[in-house]
Amino acid sequence: MTTTPPHLHTTQQAYDAVAVRYAELVRDVLDDFPLDRAILAAFAELTRIVGAGPVADLGCGPGYLTAHLAELGLDAFGIDLSPTMIDIACRTYPELRFEVGSMAALNSADGVLSGIVSWYSLIHVPPQEIPSYLAEFRRALSGDGTLLLGFFEAEGGPLSTFDHKVVTAYRWPIDDLAALAGEAGFAEVGRMLRQPHTDERFRRGHLLLRAR
Ligand SMILES: C[S@@+](CC[C@H](N)C(=O)[O-])C[C@H]1O[C@@H](n2cnc3c(N)ncnc32)[C@H](O)[C@@H]1O
Repeated sequence: MTTTPPHLHTTQQAYDAVAVRYAELVRDVLDDFPLDRAILAAFAELTRIVGAGPVADLGCGPGYLTAHLAELGLDAFGIDLSPTMIDIACRTYPELRFEVGSMAALNSADGVLSGIVSWYSLIHVPPQEIPSYLAEFRRALSGDGTLLLGFFEAEGGPLSTFDHKVVTAYRWPIDDLAALAGEAGFAEVGRMLRQPHTDERFRRGHLLLRAR
């Protein structure tokens, strides 16, 4: 029998507590970030070439990104630990599918997903557990499926934790995360670094990967 790590419970409770306010803050956030939209568009284009299989938005929060992926022509659905986030997502985007669950163990058969996005959700996973998450993503993706990671980048510094406003989070050197993805069976397609906006603290890292 596997036991759920306590940090998952902590993360779930922390996001349940802020979900309503968080949803209001982020609902239109993509409008302000053309580079974020650009890498999401590249992900969508590469994923559509792979096939018409489902695309999982892991740690989808209130679902705005799942909706954006659907607008880009993908069969997108969202998964999140927080039932309150999922409730908001279901009410805001009733035409889309959302499920409560953990990206540590996906409710998907081997190889069925054409794409996976983890947009600022792996940031809460303790670094030693990242390889098992990436292995789980690789298991659920089709042979040439695509993976897009969005995260706080360490800006040349080492892997570190920081005072994230909701719950413990980590900043990753982009090369370190790319190397772990390589070990888990992904080839890098490209990467995008975005400097922080005036109301953001850290550089943003994005890795676009393909299963190999
Ligand atoms: C910083 S928010 C990002 C939400 C959304 N992707 C966005 O960009 O606004 C992190 C989200 O990841 C979810 N999360 C964290 N760990 C998770 C896990 N193991 N499985 C599923 N969701 C997780 C949290 O509940 C939270 O909604």
